[in-house]
Amino acid sequence: MSDMFRLDGKVAVVIGGAGGIGEIMAKGLAAQGAKVAVASRNLQKITDIAKIIQTETKSETVGLSVDVTDKASVDALAEEVLKKFGTVDILVNSQGINTKKPADNFPLADWDALFNVNVRGTMLACSAFGKTMIGKKSGKIINVSSVRGLRATLWGGNEGYSASKGAVDMMTRALASEWAPHNINVNAIAPLLIRTPLAAPTLNDPEKLRTYVANVPFKRIGEPQDLAGLCIFLASPASDFITGQIIYLDGGLTAVG
Ligand SMILES: NC(=O)c1ccc[n+]([C@@H]2O[C@H](COP(=O)([O-])OP(=O)(O)OC[C@H]3O[C@@H](n4cnc5c(N)ncnc54)[C@H](OP(=O)(O)O)[C@@H]3O)[C@@H](O)[C@H]2O)c1
Repeated sequence: MSDMFRLDGKVAVVIGGAGGIGEIMAKGLAAQGAKVAVASRNLQKITDIAKIIQTETKSETVGLSVDVTDKASVDALAEEVLKKFGTVDILVNSQGINTKKPADNFPLADWDALFNVNVRGTMLACSAFGKTMIGKKSGKIINVSSVRGLRATLWGGNEGYSASKGAVDMMTRALASEWAPHNINVNAIAPLLIRTPLAAPTLNDPEKLRTYVANVPFKRIGEPQDLAGLCIFLASPASDFITGQIIYLDGGLTAVG
């Protein structure tokens, strides 16, 4: 029982590993013994983060570059991970962007970028790494969605982001069903506002932040470290019978609607 959260001998890929949420999840997986590849577009930044994770956890960690909107780049990442570590057991899709624009004038380029990174990028990564998982008849996929896939905001601008996260939720359920025969678990973590660069527009607006926190039963927003435990759980044998679930890491926000 004491080993049920350990990930020794496992290989994890965390895309978006240079982000506030991705980095802490990668660190959590490495702390449980997984070898980790962190990936994002900025190679220098991701390499620096990989070094920090390896130093802190003593688990082998490598930084690789990927642009999830580009299929060739995602496929190349999958090849590099296989070359470096020989397999993949855990995929975390923590890449994401959030562009807020009014719904009556949502620039199509912004809409397309949201869907290219948040939806298409998640699909391409699941497909590229899922092939290896199907071959070995085991795997854990963790998509990072958002409470915005379920609930709108009191203020506007979130039509595109919310729609993209709703799509991530349904991709998670559809993949969970399609890949259950291959013993692959597919789940999503759906956080509320977490203190990272992506959340800056809300964090930097004191009035909005006050309203936001007032609606959270725990009366606070999330910190990146709130993510680590759930990520470890979903990557570990402790969650072997859980699939197709969107788990709200939200201080109770969605419980009260
Ligand atoms: N922070 C929140 O309040 C919050 C709440 C709910 C859900 N989420 C979700 O959590 C996930 C992580 O967000 P975060 O808060 O950690 O944001 P963040 O700090 O801005 O990190 C986003 C990450 O995505 C990477 N990325 C962006 N575009 C990419 C692309 N085309 N290809 C590969 N990587 C790309 C970025 O690295 P590069 O720029 O180097 O590529 C970065 O590592 C996102 O899916 C977000 O929607 C966040």
